[in-house]
Amino acid sequence: MKTGSIRLLFFLLIIHLSPSGAEISCRDEAGRPVDWFVMYKLPKYQIHQAVGMGLNYMYLDPSTDDWQRSKHLVNTTESAVGRTLQQLYSTYKSKVNDRAYFIYNDAAPSMPYDMYHGHTKGVLLFDEAQGFWLIHSVPHFPPFPKKGYSWPSSGKRNGQTLFCITYKYSQVTEIGKQLLYYNPRVYNWSLPDIFLPELSHLQFVAKGGSVSKSPWKRLTELTSTGGVQFQSFAKYKHFEDDIYAGWVAQTLKTDLLAETWNGSKHQLPSNCSLPKHVYNIVRIKLPGPVLFYSSNDHSKWCVSLGHDEGWTCIGDLNRTFGQMGRSAGLLCTRHPAIHRAFRRSVSWYENCTGTQ
Ligand SMILES: *[C@@H]1O[C@H](CO)[C@@H](O)[C@H](O)[C@H]1NC(C)=O
Ligand SMILES: *[C@@H]1O[C@H](CO)[C@@H](O)[C@H](O)[C@H]1NC(C)=O
Ligand SMILES: *[C@@H]1O[C@H](CO)[C@@H](O)[C@H](O)[C@H]1NC(C)=O
Ligand SMILES: *[C@@H]1O[C@H](CO)[C@@H](O)[C@H](O)[C@H]1NC(C)=O
Ligand SMILES: *[C@@H]1O[C@H](CO)[C@@H](O)[C@H](O)[C@H]1NC(C)=O
Ligand SMILES: *[C@@H]1O[C@H](CO)[C@@H](O)[C@H](O)[C@H]1NC(C)=O
Repeated sequence: MKTGSIRLLFFLLIIHLSPSGAEISCRDEAGRPVDWFVMYKLPKYQIHQAVGMGLNYMYLDPSTDDWQRSKHLVNTTESAVGRTLQQLYSTYKSKVNDRAYFIYNDAAPSMPYDMYHGHTKGVLLFDEAQGFWLIHSVPHFPPFPKKGYSWPSSGKRNGQTLFCITYKYSQVTEIGKQLLYYNPRVYNWSLPDIFLPELSHLQFVAKGGSVSKSPWKRLTELTSTGGVQFQSFAKYKHFEDDIYAGWVAQTLKTDLLAETWNGSKHQLPSNCSLPKHVYNIVRIKLPGPVLFYSSNDHSKWCVSLGHDEGWTCIGDLNRTFGQMGRSAGLLCTRHPAIHRAFRRSVSWYENCTGTQ
């Protein structure tokens, strides 16, 4: 018994001391590789609170049971996204030729807004073994590789979500196929020759290429290195429908509560016309308690109304008329802890027959 636990301790020590810096992966705040994480950057304007800095965030990964309020700020390299993106900045600095990256954002840093490409933001970084795909909602983020990590002032006011998942290389081809539908505006990228011709479709995407014939949407399964399964919904702009009510809710066979920016009168109302319904979230509550309205939240996600269905999706699109004609996607999982955390955070939503 005693020898057993000493052996276990020794084993854990070896694991801990082995160089973990090598593999490309989502990283927690201690810089350790994690299979996935979610960050919920809190808005500046919260209910019953003085105006904040807009740099605090809640954090969730496989080792936390619920949202944890981080002691770090998002603008530091000690935040989980800061730690994770350090791998991008060091790749650029070291000029190594065995890593590829793609950074995309419809609102790219110091560039005019792009209405033509997908309404989508993210980072893909990988080598021949593995890498991560970070999906987020932050305008003008992240900075160009030569600039190093920072957080834009445009990302302070509203709530934002950042969802990072670690994948084996075998999944990258599939992610690339989804990006043909996302039609992202890739504002900086590098794809060394060793990845060609296998990933030539990613090169095509980076140069602005997209699908050219129907069907205009694609659903596929992705699996993280830790074995968590995801349904990836990708739509090109010619699939002109509300992704939430018109596709995701009906496909996953679940009623959804959707959090998308309520910035204007153009918001689509809650929708009970189809077999599965979509209700707009009005107010969010996170541990603390932290309370805020959807109108101060720029994040885009939805969660199953019922615990049995248990879906959570994070992605790119507002529920507005205009966004029906934009390319982008949603990444959905049935991970129980993610569902619990998001479902509990819905403090008020709009029923189809009025608010409740
Ligand atoms: C982060 O923002 C805070 C508040 O504006 C500021 O005091 C701090 O210097 C910033 N840190 C970094 C690393 O930019
Ligand atoms: C990426 O940005 C660097 C400077 O940060 C620039 O030298 C390079 O040409 C850019 N690459 C692409 C493909 O835009
Ligand atoms: C509900 O969504 C479907 C699919 O987008 C759409 O056809 C229908 O018109 C919507 N109903 C309402 C009342 O908005
Ligand atoms: C949808 O969200 C984008 C940012 O994600 C925002 O700029 C735009 O104003 C929103 N559209 C509407 C019609 O609310
Ligand atoms: C959106 O904002 C309008 C105007 O502020 C408000 O009347 C409506 O209830 C809000 N809807 C949601 C779902 O937050
Ligand atoms: C919407 O309101 C109706 C009538 O009050 C109620 O029966 C129903 O349960 C509500 N639906 C949801 C999803 O809350």
